[in-house]
Amino acid sequence: MTVQTETTTRPLTTTVDKPKSISIRRAPAEMVVGIDVGTTKVCSIAGIRKDDGSLHILAHSAVPCNGLSKGSVSDIDATADAIRKSVHSLQEAIGFKVESAYVGVTGSDIAFENRRDDLDPISGHGVITAEDLDRDPKALAESTDEPGRQLIHALRMTYSVEGEDGIRNPIGMHSNTIEVNTHMVTAATVFVDKLATAVEQAGVSVIGMVLEPMASGLAVMTPAERIRGTVLVDIGGGTTDVVGFQQGRVCFTGVLPVGGFQFTNDIAVTYNTSYEAAENAKLAHASTDIPRFGQEVSLPVTGSDVDLRVEIAEICQLVRERANELARLIKIKLDESDIEGLSRYKIVLTGGSSNLPGIAELFQRSLAVAVRRGVPVGYDGFPDELRNPRYASAVGILQWAAERELPKTDAPAPSIGQKQGGRRGLVAGLVKQISRLVPRAYFAAKKGRN
Ligand SMILES: Nc1ncnc2c1ncn2[C@@H]1O[C@H](COP(=O)(O)OP(=O)(O)OP(=O)(O)O)[C@@H](O)[C@H]1O
Ligand SMILES: [Mg+2]
Repeated sequence: MTVQTETTTRPLTTTVDKPKSISIRRAPAEMVVGIDVGTTKVCSIAGIRKDDGSLHILAHSAVPCNGLSKGSVSDIDATADAIRKSVHSLQEAIGFKVESAYVGVTGSDIAFENRRDDLDPISGHGVITAEDLDRDPKALAESTDEPGRQLIHALRMTYSVEGEDGIRNPIGMHSNTIEVNTHMVTAATVFVDKLATAVEQAGVSVIGMVLEPMASGLAVMTPAERIRGTVLVDIGGGTTDVVGFQQGRVCFTGVLPVGGFQFTNDIAVTYNTSYEAAENAKLAHASTDIPRFGQEVSLPVTGSDVDLRVEIAEICQLVRERANELARLIKIKLDESDIEGLSRYKIVLTGGSSNLPGIAELFQRSLAVAVRRGVPVGYDGFPDELRNPRYASAVGILQWAAERELPKTDAPAPSIGQKQGGRRGLVAGLVKQISRLVPRAYFAAKKGRN
């Protein structure tokens, strides 16, 4: 069988169309796997979590995927097929079986709510302890029961003690009550179920779902940016995901159903050419800067034998209009939020479509805020192939996975049902894993990136 992998991280690159002689062994407990199920590709990535909390990436495998529309699974079989190919290829590269993984989730159906809940009574004689903070507010646990929706993350933002807001570490403070401010991200159960079914159909158990743009933020933003207040914009193939970070925590989540697909589709529709020809023309020539007239490209016309000669400047004009429209939609999203000053935050732009030449500069002009491109980079030995914004989510999912408590025994990782009582428990269990988005030793090990 030949598996079309786009990339596989060195030095464990394998030629996947050779006869398979590699024996696949059971993975060590320190191995973590993340799967980014995107609208254009599935990327699975494996790493080893070291004792000092740092992560060593072993290999990755990306294969095209046609099973999603606007970030949501529309064809379970096609999605499962792409995941299976990607995971098989990854297994051959690393020599270990992939039994379970963290899986990225996005889509236009994602919603969020910032909540403030009481956490009481305080156990330790009026002094707030770490054990107090380990509990979840009762009201928050109850609120996850909304019919038809599932909790993806309950991300703890800050605490309020005795009327003082914005406290990040209240341990040791004197009070009998404390309020917890939480960013809750939810998705439609039907969508989460389809994604989980596709992954399981590919033979992999889902340990947890990870919001993709939050993962991208982990991979491409500096801890200082996440603390100061920065917006991550991930322009993928089917969606543009927007996540606001403040004080090191996620405070805003939004998904726009616009991505690279629309840029390509504009070209295809305008010149009555195939999507594939339009995509190739976009990748080869498009820019949001308008070049001089006189350079042309040939596009096949649907239903005709004669190619059309098109000015590249015209293609750039189309792409520029779409980019301006996207910037406008992002501004509306940010303005709509009740987060003070969010639309003035610096933007870090990532995702495959951020490779479009000129788009960061166009966003900077259009939104009147600082914009930089975000590429996963970092510690020594970080694979060159992954230094591309299209891998931001996959790398971030792996980083998130490395931060979570994974089974340390030799026992196989439990499936969703075994572990947490069915699919509804799949993400609800993550409430317990309230995230601290300024990770500990892991990011310390990667100082100096970006
Ligand atoms: N140089 C480039 N210029 C313009 N667009 C590009 C370039 N390189 C990649 N793209 C676009 O990036 C998109 C794919 O990005 P990415 O891999 O981040 O998407 P995805 O994760 O599969 O989708 P999504 O996150 O929306 O579900 C494609 O639409 C592709 O055309
Ligand atoms: Mg993506």
